Amino acid sequence: MGFTRSAAFARLSSHKDRYTKPGALKSLFSQDPNRVERYSFQVADINFDFSKHWIDADVHTELVALAESQGVTSKIKALLSGEQVNPTEKRPALHTALRSKEKLDITVNGEQVSEVIADTLAQMRSFVKSVHENVFVGHTGKPLRTIVNIGIGGSYLGPKVVSDALAPYAKDGFEIRYIANIDPSDATDVLKTLDPETTLFVICSKSFSTLETLENAKACRRWFIDNGGNDEAVAKHFIAVTTAIEKATAFGIAKENLFPMWDWVGGRYSLWSAIGLPQALYLGMDVFEQLLAGAYEMDDHFASAPLAENVPVLSALLGVWYQNVHGAGAHAVLTYDERLKDLPNHLQQVDMESNGKSSTLSGHPVTFDTGSVIWGGVGTNGQHAYHQLLHQGTRLIPTDFIVAWKSHNDIDKQHQWLVANCLAQAQAMLLGRDEEQVRQELTAKGLAAEEVEALVPHKVIPGNRPSSLISFERLTPKVLGALVAYYEHRIFVQSAIWDINAFDQWGVELGKVMGDEIFKALEGNEAELDPSTKAAVAAFRQVQ
Ligand code: F6P
Repeated sequence: MGFTRSAAFARLSSHKDRYTKPGALKSLFSQDPNRVERYSFQVADINFDFSKHWIDADVHTELVALAESQGVTSKIKALLSGEQVNPTEKRPALHTALRSKEKLDITVNGEQVSEVIADTLAQMRSFVKSVHENVFVGHTGKPLRTIVNIGIGGSYLGPKVVSDALAPYAKDGFEIRYIANIDPSDATDVLKTLDPETTLFVICSKSFSTLETLENAKACRRWFIDNGGNDEAVAKHFIAVTTAIEKATAFGIAKENLFPMWDWVGGRYSLWSAIGLPQALYLGMDVFEQLLAGAYEMDDHFASAPLAENVPVLSALLGVWYQNVHGAGAHAVLTYDERLKDLPNHLQQVDMESNGKSSTLSGHPVTFDTGSVIWGGVGTNGQHAYHQLLHQGTRLIPTDFIVAWKSHNDIDKQHQWLVANCLAQAQAMLLGRDEEQVRQELTAKGLAAEEVEALVPHKVIPGNRPSSLISFERLTPKVLGALVAYYEHRIFVQSAIWDINAFDQWGVELGKVMGDEIFKALEGNEAELDPSTKAAVAAFRQVQ
C-alpha cells in the first residue's frame, strides 16, 4: 500500500488548510514566543532554523508518526549497518562508512569495509605527502602543482563543491581544475591554462567506462604527449581512482598510483572516498579528514537522535508535507556564499538521481510524486533573476537559505550586506506585504487614490512561504562535511517514506545506449531513428 493511503498520511492531510492562508505563519510566531528555539536545531556547528515552516505541535506529531509508520527508524539502521538497501544492484550503500570513526562490523564481497577504507585513507595520505614534499614529481623533475580532476557526475559535482568551498584552506601554490563535459570546449579551455611539466591528471571514474571521462582522459594524454611528454612519462602525470583496476592499468596508470573504489559506494555519494583525492591534494589531507569528521558528526546525529529532533528526518518530512500534501514540485537551495555556488548542482544530482523514481522497491508503480525538482543558485545574484517567482509566483517552492555569519574575505561591509540580503529574502517570503500596507505606502508617496488602487494588486506579496535558515559561523571543512551529509540523509529519508530505491539510476542508461546508436548514425551508418532525430542527423551530416 502506498504511503498516501496510510492512516498516518490521512491524519497529516487533515491539517492541510491550517497554514496556507496569508499571515498564517506570521501568527504562529505571535502565538508562541519560543517558536524559533522550539524549531531550531544545532548539529556539528550548523544551526538549522525550521521555525519559518508550516509546522506546529500537531503537524510535528503527525509528521513523526508518518515516519514511524513507514519504518524510517529501521530503514536508517539498515542503511548504516550495510544491509542491501540497493536491491536492484544487489548492494549496500556505505558512504557513511567512509567517514565513520568506528571500526564497523561490516564485510562486503569478502572485504572488511573499515579495513579497506583505512588502507585507502593511508594510501591517500602517503601519496598526498609525497606530492606535497616533492618526492612524487613530474617527469622532468618539477614539482606537481596543478591537479586536474577528470570525471563527471558524482566524480565531479561533489568534489568541485569541496574544492570551491574550502579554497581558503588550499595548500600554497596548488591549483585545481576540472574537466567533465564531452563538449570539446571544456577540455580545450582547461588545457590551454596548463603547464604539462607541473600538472597531475587524476582520472576519477568508479566504472572507468564513462564516455565523457574516457574521452577527456584520452584527450589529456594526447595533449601531454604532444607537449613534451611520452608514454613512459604518463605514469608520472596520470593517476586514477576506480573500481576497474585492469582498465585503468591498460590506460597506462602505474599500479601503485591506482586508488580503489567499491561498488558499495554510489557515485553521487563518493566524494568521501578516494574520489576526493584531487581535493585532498589541493587542500591537504588534514582538511579532507576534517571534512569527513564533520560528515561523521551529522551521521552520528542521524543515527541516534529521536525522529522528532532528528534534523535530516524532520527536513525530509517537511519536504514530503509540502510535496505530497500541498503539491509543491520543487525545492530551492539558495546559498548566500559564493563558495557554495555549485552546491545546488551537486544536490541536483544527489537528490534527482536518487529519488527520481516511479517504481516502489517491490516493483509497483508509485501513485504519488517522488523526487522534487532541485534548483537554486547563489545569493544575491538570484535576487536579480528568479526570486520574483519565489515572492509573487503561483507555485509553492520551499526554500533553503544557507549563510555564514563570517566570511573568509572582508571588503568593507560587503559580507554584512550579503547577510542582510539573505535574511531579508527569507523574511520577505515569510511576511510578504498585504493590501493595506501597500495602500499606505503608495498613499504616503503622494499617489492619487485611483493610481493607488490600480497598483495595489501588482504590489501585494502574499508571504507565508516556507523556508529553512541554515547558518554557521564560518564555512569550515567540518561544516561543509556536515552540510552535505545532512542533504544525503534528507534524501534517504524521503526515499524511505516513498518506499523507492535511492541508490540505483537505471533512468540514465537509455540515453547512453541511444547516444551510441546516434553517434554511429552521425558517421553515416544506418540506424532506426524517429523522423525528428533523423532530420537532425541529416542536418549534422550536411555540414561536416
Ligand atoms: O550519471 C550516471 C553516473 O553513473 C553517475 O551516477 C555517476 O556519478 C557518473 O555517471 C559517473 O560515473 P563514473 O564515476 O563511473 O565515471
